[in-house]
Amino acid sequence: MKKFAALTLVWSMFVAVTFMALKAMFFPPHVDHGPHIEEQQWSTDGIRGNWDREQLLRGYKVATEVCMSCHSFKYISHRNLKNIGITEAKAKEMAEALDLGLNDPILSLLSPEDAKDSYGKEVPDLSVMTKARAKGPDYVYALLTHYVSSETFMTEYGKQIIAGDGQYLNKVFPGYRIAMPNPLSADLVEYEDGTEATVEQMAKDVTAFLTWTGDPLLVEKKRLGVIVFLYLVLFTFLCYKSYKAIWAKVKK
Ligand code: HEC
Repeated sequence: MKKFAALTLVWSMFVAVTFMALKAMFFPPHVDHGPHIEEQQWSTDGIRGNWDREQLLRGYKVATEVCMSCHSFKYISHRNLKNIGITEAKAKEMAEALDLGLNDPILSLLSPEDAKDSYGKEVPDLSVMTKARAKGPDYVYALLTHYVSSETFMTEYGKQIIAGDGQYLNKVFPGYRIAMPNPLSADLVEYEDGTEATVEQMAKDVTAFLTWTGDPLLVEKKRLGVIVFLYLVLFTFLCYKSYKAIWAKVKK
């Protein structure tokens, strides 16, 4: 009886410790790592996620008409647009409108040296930006929509942050002072599909575009993942069936 009680005690301790370890692993205690970045919904979310081609084309417009005056997208060329169903002729036409060839990387006219002179900092390439930052697209969207004046900053945070020369205040940029002037303002671009060009809309569209430049095959990879998974399930089932069939004879 004593042995049983001791065993039960050890066993329940073991269960409790395992439970706590698992809980800490999957639901870590909330630690504040800086400004809160709100989660957004993206068309590529989930296993059934897909590119929203209209949105990517709107994002392309913002990227090339606004961001490209400072930033490059060196890992992407217009040829890549074929994978979202843009014909080669159309992609070529789009490239030529920017004085580029179909296979040319999309480079800003602002050279890295001039950028450094103007902004005192390197202007980072944007092609894989959504992969390079924690919370990727959610962060980029938040960055583009969280520029604030120092008065707003003061009232919301109760502390005074002064933006120095060539610095702008942004609530989600680490350290709050960013060398990028707020690139978006309402109606900065005119969308061909009639969508209203609010700051939020442009930020959303250009971020979706950056998710694509960061991983143009994202959707294909997801599809392949699902197919591989289904294949493995089927394969396991077939193995089980053949195991049964083979051993049925032996057991007899
Ligand atoms: C006038 C020039 C200019 C324009 C236009 C511009 N940027 Fe920037 N951007 C910069 C500079 C300079 C930096 C470096 C900021 C720093 O590190 O303080 C930067 C940095 C960034 C970063 C990186 C922030 C980080 O966490 O390090 C992102 C993302 C970004 N820009 C996105 C965009 C997008 C999207 C657009 C178009 C809507 C755009 N930028 C337009 C100059 C520009």
